[in-house]
Amino acid sequence: MPAERRPLVAGNWKMNGLRGSAAEITAIADGYDAALAARADLLICPPATLLASAVQAAERSALRIGAQDCHAKASGAHTGDLSAEMLADAGATAVIVGHSERRADHHESDEMVWEKAEAAWRAGLMAVVCVGETEAQRQAGHCHAVVARQVRGSVPDAATPENLVVAYEPVWAIGTGLVPTPEDVAEVHGVIRSVLAQRFGDAAQRMRILYGGSVKPDNVASLLTAADVDGALVGGASLKASDFLAIARAYL
Ligand code: PGA
Repeated sequence: MPAERRPLVAGNWKMNGLRGSAAEITAIADGYDAALAARADLLICPPATLLASAVQAAERSALRIGAQDCHAKASGAHTGDLSAEMLADAGATAVIVGHSERRADHHESDEMVWEKAEAAWRAGLMAVVCVGETEAQRQAGHCHAVVARQVRGSVPDAATPENLVVAYEPVWAIGTGLVPTPEDVAEVHGVIRSVLAQRFGDAAQRMRILYGGSVKPDNVASLLTAADVDGALVGGASLKASDFLAIARAYL
């Protein structure tokens, strides 16, 4: 990975974690020592109910705390939704948008993801924009076209290397234990990089592209050394501090 892209290892807790889980955040913050902090950024995205306590637990470390979704609007009559401003107010500095589980469960389109990324920036949050093909799309040979279309449709024009991270997460690899080969990952990340370069020119070389989908301590090394992979978005293995730290330490 070129020196201008600092690795990011992000954890997505999804709908997991009660108040007692703050202890895992504390353990991650404690394990994020100077050696690791010199090599990689770490981000944990707990459920919104735990944002404030996670921010507190991470207070004395460089560990960043983020959210998993936001509404496009700043406020209003949207029962049950949270705005990016609210997440920032709770101490989040980043938000995941367009995760495939939200695209599937809540019918989020590229257009909606674009608006959510813009909302994140309006509130001063970094947006982690997720893309990825389904198994059927891959088998039909459409993986590259699908991912390129999602990146074009979900990443707004105001993207910069500071406010945008793209996460490539093949839907069939999420929570299944199945992972693409490092060569496959490198190819798709290359496609994403070239789509970003068409839009953002040289700045695209500094934009981070993460791989996500069944990243574990025992497969991380080969995935992270693939070309154009600037870190990982970790689901299940981010719930345990020891596993998450073991993944991050692949960068030491
Ligand atoms: P997983 O989830 O690591 O449990 O496969 C990744 C994600 O959905 O972000």
